[in-house]
Amino acid sequence: MDMLRFDPEAYAVKEAELDGRKVRYRAYENIVYAGNPIDPQYQKMNIYVPEIYYEAPERAPFELKEAPVFMPNSVGGYMPGLPQEPGRTFTGIMNGTFYALEQGYVVAAPGARGRGLKDKEGKNTGTAPACIVDLKAAVRYLRHNKDVIPGNTERIISNGTSAGGALSCLLGSTGNHPDYEPFLKEIGAADERDDIFAASCYCPITDLDHADMAYEWEFCGLDRYYFRDQPECCLTEEQRAMGEEEKRGFPPYLNSLALRDEQGRELSLEADGSGSFRDYIAGKVMESAEREEERGTEMAAFPWLKPEGGKGPDWDGYVRYRTRMKPTPAFDDVRLGTPENELFGSREEEARHFTEFSFKNSLVNGKMAEASQIHMMNPLNYMEDENSTVCGYFRIRHGTADRDTSLAISAELTLTLKKAGCDVDYALPWGIPHSGDYDLEELFSWIRRISSAGSRRKD
Ligand code: DHB
Repeated sequence: MDMLRFDPEAYAVKEAELDGRKVRYRAYENIVYAGNPIDPQYQKMNIYVPEIYYEAPERAPFELKEAPVFMPNSVGGYMPGLPQEPGRTFTGIMNGTFYALEQGYVVAAPGARGRGLKDKEGKNTGTAPACIVDLKAAVRYLRHNKDVIPGNTERIISNGTSAGGALSCLLGSTGNHPDYEPFLKEIGAADERDDIFAASCYCPITDLDHADMAYEWEFCGLDRYYFRDQPECCLTEEQRAMGEEEKRGFPPYLNSLALRDEQGRELSLEADGSGSFRDYIAGKVMESAEREEERGTEMAAFPWLKPEGGKGPDWDGYVRYRTRMKPTPAFDDVRLGTPENELFGSREEEARHFTEFSFKNSLVNGKMAEASQIHMMNPLNYMEDENSTVCGYFRIRHGTADRDTSLAISAELTLTLKKAGCDVDYALPWGIPHSGDYDLEELFSWIRRISSAGSRRKD
């Protein structure tokens, strides 16, 4: 028997209402997408189809077999994520699933394993690369059922925020790559392709193995930090010294990526952290401010945009405006206390290091994660790898008020993808903190545009 067969009759008609708006849809819920699941509570998916396709197909925006498939993941903090339902995001606004249904898209919302999950023996089951393996298995399930499933499985558009934004980027960058194959086999994923059509990534928390250096490249020199709702804290002398060293490590790394701007000019950093790569990001901040000003916002409260006697923005002023959120090192904690340390745990170990720097400076005698595990979580490793099918379209958003990771990270992703020939829609929306789905109208006009433009995939 085919455990991974989709049953087109196994639905309930549901209605959701939000802020006076209503959607009616067929709900196929809790479909386990792996034949040999390790945690079926998370390795499952909800598939939703707007009821208009059955009630009044002549008014639907697509033929049902042509409707693009919106694939939101609900992973946050690299924790396990349940399949998204039409409703609100963690910031309380309408989520992509609700909006997608209203606009006539099919939604396939997978859950995924994450850090902290344990089996009956108390062993860890959600460490890396479980979360990305699960999203790939969900894509494979859809393809496995392409003849009977609503929507066009060659038009899968992934969406996620933060850790989920990182996973969306990874899903878009690693299509069909053999590195993940043994893990997919282990969970009994369908033997199908797992490349997708497009990826939308809000504030991706990624390039984790270099994110500490990137963080200090921006925030070194700010000694106070403001972590979520915790009271203001001050870095210790040891943390400051580590910050200086991490900051010095970033320019050589960034320069090794050999990035270029849209005009083909080389982007690099000097030893002190200044340089054309920083100017490139500063230019994007400025563009964002100009767009905001055109909308009529009074910008006098941001004097760093127009420094006296110089060209804006004043970078140091901008970084001070954002404030530091995390102590040093920001991701690979020398006490193994971050979500990322747990992500890189193993079946036996709760948390491990994933940078040489913190491994060397570990205060808890922490172990190092395997190089292959670290490699599989970084989309930058796959964008120019000929064994991966990188999707043709990416949309990357990182708010100008976000301090969960450095703006260098989203810029590196964008520029590496462009180098690989992808069409990348990249912007730093004005004043937006760490969050996603805040511009659904724009997100879906991008989806409409790329869906009608068609595939850019190079086989
Ligand atoms: C998320 C936020 C973080 O600051 C982080 O380090 C990892 C994940 C998140 O919101 O998903």
